[in-house]
Amino acid sequence: METVVSGIRPTGNLHLGNYFGAMKNFLKMQDENNCYFFIADYHSLTTHPTPADLHGSVKQVLAEYLACGLDPEKATIYLQSDVTEVTELYLLLNMNAYVGELERTTSFKDKVRKQPENVNAGLLTYPVLMAADIIIHNAAKVPVGKDQEQNLEMARKFARRFNNIYHVEYFVEPQPYNFGEALIKIPGLDGTGKMGKSEGNGIFLIDDPKDIQKKVMRAVTDAGPTEKNSPVSEPIQNLFTLMQVVSEKSTLEFFKEKYANCEIRYGDLKKQLAEDIIKFTSPIRERILDIASNEAYLSKVVKMGAEKARESASKTIREVREIIGFKPF
Ligand code: TRP
Repeated sequence: METVVSGIRPTGNLHLGNYFGAMKNFLKMQDENNCYFFIADYHSLTTHPTPADLHGSVKQVLAEYLACGLDPEKATIYLQSDVTEVTELYLLLNMNAYVGELERTTSFKDKVRKQPENVNAGLLTYPVLMAADIIIHNAAKVPVGKDQEQNLEMARKFARRFNNIYHVEYFVEPQPYNFGEALIKIPGLDGTGKMGKSEGNGIFLIDDPKDIQKKVMRAVTDAGPTEKNSPVSEPIQNLFTLMQVVSEKSTLEFFKEKYANCEIRYGDLKKQLAEDIIKFTSPIRERILDIASNEAYLSKVVKMGAEKARESASKTIREVREIIGFKPF
């Protein structure tokens, strides 16, 4: 079994894009690997949340991930801040991380541009903390999206550098992992592009049925086909793609045929799509609400995860200290 690590930022609610992207990947991996999934609450401090917001967002993501089927019996699910060993490894790795290379990362440069009023050192060393998250469990695989590949490349670099400096083969170099083309990119409802958290084009698992209906009915369409078998425009293809993941195969085929015959009524298409999305999200939504209000369960999950994660992390720290040359007196 391979060791897999992935961190989840506690920002915002999960939408259909997250579900059919990251989440499906995680669910598959927890059955086949030794998985560590954690909520990256230390990382979230780079944006200075208030104490009240911090706890609330951590709890919400945790409840949402559990509701989707992440299973604390199969994977180690924990809060990053419960495994303080991570901060020690972060400190140690920082000694061999150079300001120049950190300043050159795309995500840092982005942040400098977007929030010049808060360019803190935590942002600069974000990739070092992320490397610590991963190599503290000596993970071989990291399921992340494209936007995280540079961070992962840095994690490999820091792992390799440590090995070189101390002439050891201690850390594994973690590789990015996804099920590639098998995963369908979920589009938004605004006609173009993918579903995002901040784009205002998303359907969230927690949305109530009325909101879902409203959002789908407002989705961008086009003027409709005037000739038989005409090509499908992007906004309509997007609705078909959503239908592909939530509806019966025959439903999608029915509407595609209507389109090809120029008989399609977008109102009917949307009504059906909304209904099928609601059918898909409702049980998840109920589980989210249920789990979020079950403090005892959440507390049990978090404790169990922290214990398992610390076991692996403290072993690494012990060995790393020894390699570096810390000796007990
Ligand atoms: N940086 C990741 C993101 O923004 C979150 C993250 C933190 C992470 N530590 C990680 C992902 C370790 C994978 C492995 O989504």
